[in-house]
Amino acid sequence: MIDFGLTDRAGRLVRLRPIDDDNWRAVADVVPRDDQRDFVAPSAARYVLLSMRGGVWQSLAVCADEEVVGHVMWGWDDDDQRYWIGGMVIDASRQGAGLGRATVLTLVRWLMERSDCQGVRLSVHKSNELARGLYGSVGFQELELDEDGEIVAELTRERFPDPAA
Ligand SMILES: CC(C)(COP(=O)(O)OP(=O)(O)OC[C@H]1O[C@@H](n2cnc3c(N)ncnc32)[C@H](O)[C@@H]1OP(=O)(O)O)[C@@H](O)C(=O)NCCC(=O)NCCS
Repeated sequence: MIDFGLTDRAGRLVRLRPIDDDNWRAVADVVPRDDQRDFVAPSAARYVLLSMRGGVWQSLAVCADEEVVGHVMWGWDDDDQRYWIGGMVIDASRQGAGLGRATVLTLVRWLMERSDCQGVRLSVHKSNELARGLYGSVGFQELELDEDGEIVAELTRERFPDPAA
């Protein structure tokens, strides 16, 4: 379990847990808002299956106290030697409560603890203003736009110093 004591705006503890026998159904049922379906898969079930199939991504349940409220996954890319975050979805019914911010901060902090982590990358659709604003406010810098309209953004170690240092 990944827990840095971050909370949502209601004070609920936000923790990231591996997918297990108890939470997989609730994670699979996480869905974005209808108007967000151009940006992410229609349900987190697809990401959970991807994680199970490929051995590249690792899915995590986003929990607020004991409730499953979202999905996020992480992976290592040999090509760019960077950790990546993907598949971040906070359930449509739980958005706007500070869960997305707590999730990305928790996962980034956990990845940055690794000695081989020089930076964390993700890709976000150019029209996904809400997510771009969130990532930018955490310190991600946008690097490049690909032909599918996805922007690669990176948070470097320098822009996310160890809070304990
Ligand atoms: C992007 C996403 C994960 C953010 O999760 P969230 O729990 O709603 O985010 P938060 O409540 O932590 O809010 C983050 C910021 O977004 C803004 N925001 C959130 N909901 C908003 C809304 N309905 N309208 C306007 N701004 C909003 C807020 O400004 C907030 O910034 P603040 O903390 O400075 O106030 C969520 O919207 C989502 O799941 N979207 C669909 C999937 C997606 O696009 N994933 C990203 C793929 S790269």
